[in-house]
Amino acid sequence: MSNNSVKPTVKFRHASFFTGIGGFDLAFERAGFELMFQCEIDSFCNRILKQHWPKVPKATDIRKVTYEQVPFAEVWTAGFPCQDISVARMGPRSGLRGKRSGLFYDFARLVGEALPRVVLVENVSGLLSSHGGRDFQIVIRTLAKLGYAIGWRVFNSKNFGVPQSRQRVYIVGCYRDWQTPAEVLFESQRRKRNVVTSGQDGKKTLSPFKKSFGDSVKGPIVQGLAYCFYACSARHTGTDWSRTYISYPDGRVRRLTPREGEGIQGFPTNWTLPNDATENPDELDTLRYHAVGNAVTVPVIQWIAKRLKDALIRKGIEEKKVSTLPELAGVL
Ligand SMILES: C[S@@+](CC[C@H](N)C(=O)[O-])C[C@H]1O[C@@H](n2cnc3c(N)ncnc32)[C@H](O)[C@@H]1O
Repeated sequence: MSNNSVKPTVKFRHASFFTGIGGFDLAFERAGFELMFQCEIDSFCNRILKQHWPKVPKATDIRKVTYEQVPFAEVWTAGFPCQDISVARMGPRSGLRGKRSGLFYDFARLVGEALPRVVLVENVSGLLSSHGGRDFQIVIRTLAKLGYAIGWRVFNSKNFGVPQSRQRVYIVGCYRDWQTPAEVLFESQRRKRNVVTSGQDGKKTLSPFKKSFGDSVKGPIVQGLAYCFYACSARHTGTDWSRTYISYPDGRVRRLTPREGEGIQGFPTNWTLPNDATENPDELDTLRYHAVGNAVTVPVIQWIAKRLKDALIRKGIEEKKVSTLPELAGVL
């Protein structure tokens, strides 16, 4: 085989901030990116990260990180803390002025120094309404002032193959590139709707979820509803499912197990089970449950990462032909 027929493989690089248990990291790896760096302060999360990525350079507190510490990567990701933004707090939200959500500014400081090609930011959709929309405006203005064109979209995890209703806002910023954010987040054409509009006899059929199953003589009739877990951000713990319970017919209730949590977030089973666990089972469950509830839903990020990779490859080809980049003015 001649060398000409071998296609060079493109391996884009990824640096991860507010890494948690590595939801972005796993998704970007699955999409073919190389993980270069992780930054996470929580000790339990760091045990999980070391277990899965023992060789990847790590930092703990983003406030102390300097951009020289971050190896080169085309894509930086950040799901910055949401506690001060979440509507589930049921009270005045300090928003980006809050101690935890304000860590966004530390991320922005590093972005301004290193100017990675792409940033992907995720947060609760409460970011859109925090301080009447001003916090969201600050996030996009801050990035735009650094030279990033911005696109954003709210996705619900339930549309990505997991039984969990979880709405989050995803913000893509591309350095001096006004096309890629929209190309990544939005489909250019309407797809055919994947629903049955009429039966074989041409008559309209009911949605499959409106059908009922069962036999009233032998047992109960149940509706064919597709149930989803509902993820909000809970006030007390910051853990997404602390108000979601599994209930049994006899009245008992229980919260999700960590394994169930991992499953509905798209993580492999026992992703958050440390090899070196010394905690008692209850303590360990709480740590796992909390960490997985804070994480991103892996298939959502994987979808974005794949589209980002395709867009970057296309861009590389285009950039050889195009000598000047379009002006950024008027993008937002
Ligand atoms: C919303 S969670 C992100 C979860 C992550 N996207 C995942 O998939 O697991 C925010 C994370 O920021 C971390 N964090 C909070 N303060 C930090 C700091 N000063 N430096 C680095 N990470 C911090 C928290 O421990 C938490 O894991």
